[in-house]
Amino acid sequence: MKTLIIYFSQTGYTRQAAELIRDGIVEVTGQCELTTMADVDTNKLVDYDLVGLGCPVFYYQEPFNVRDFIDGLPDLKDKHWFVFCSHGSVMGITLNSMSERLQKKGVIVVGYYDMYADATLAFIPYPTLTTGHPDSVDLETAHVFGREIAGRNQRIVAGEKNLIPAPEPVDEEWVQNANFFSREILDQIMPRIQLDRDSCTNCLDCQNNCPVNGIDIEADPPRLQTPCIYCYYCVEVCPVYALDSDWEAMESMNPDHYARLREWLDKAVAKGEFRFLMDPDSLDFDNTLRKQWERQRKGKK
Ligand SMILES: Cc1cc2nc3c(=O)[nH]c(=O)nc-3n(C[C@H](O)[C@H](O)[C@H](O)COP(=O)(O)O)c2cc1C
Repeated sequence: MKTLIIYFSQTGYTRQAAELIRDGIVEVTGQCELTTMADVDTNKLVDYDLVGLGCPVFYYQEPFNVRDFIDGLPDLKDKHWFVFCSHGSVMGITLNSMSERLQKKGVIVVGYYDMYADATLAFIPYPTLTTGHPDSVDLETAHVFGREIAGRNQRIVAGEKNLIPAPEPVDEEWVQNANFFSREILDQIMPRIQLDRDSCTNCLDCQNNCPVNGIDIEADPPRLQTPCIYCYYCVEVCPVYALDSDWEAMESMNPDHYARLREWLDKAVAKGEFRFLMDPDSLDFDNTLRKQWERQRKGKK
């Protein structure tokens, strides 16, 4: 069974899951390649008997660059794929949306996996509700999934079609949230980034880490967020905090937003699907990551 895992990952959690799933598959079949979404040759995908595609959850769904990647794939009729993601509090429609789009390419989706992880976004209080994840317990589930999916796919190929899983049912509220954060709406509501030319050292970390080639820092004027998937990873990786924005509108949504996230996570705890690794009552809305970065920036000046 020739297998490939493709992943998109910024802060490394999806990559960790991908590596462990790969290890599990190798234990069963002796082989599994691993590649980033940016490096994969999509014309060679038909050569694989099983392909895994993984990404983080952004705004209750797969990041728009991942969505575009799937929509741009060639015909993959009857090929077997599995989908996986890492996420903070709520994975939303991610796996279902990826699966539906892959099915439009003719793919048979044979597995789903998700893993809780930390979340780092400028406007969120930090530590956040899922800080501490993934721990060794979470990571072991990725490893186990790798073994399981390899074995399951072998049996499906051998004729046990009943092992092809139905996607998890999607909570209607998740669909609404994902719709609320559509590409068009994010274009309207999300903060625009400003560049502080005096601080910028032209290291190009922001540009080189942009997953959609949306930054040209040396252009005059600099091209920022064109296009943009609102990951704000450029802000996060800037070593001198030269990229900033007005986050207040987003920050003011935090208390209500986090009350709902807390509700979902409490339900997940009750079902034995999640464990808090921080004190959820200690969330500090006045201590967002952006404010922490600002303090560090001042400390550097
Ligand atoms: C822009 C952005 C939006 C996010 N939206 C969500 C979300 O809607 N639900 C969620 O559970 N986690 C969300 N997260 C958290 C990420 O899914 C989580 O940190 C993920 O593990 C990151 O994966 P990576 O390390 O592979 O990049 C978001 C993170 C970012 C940066």
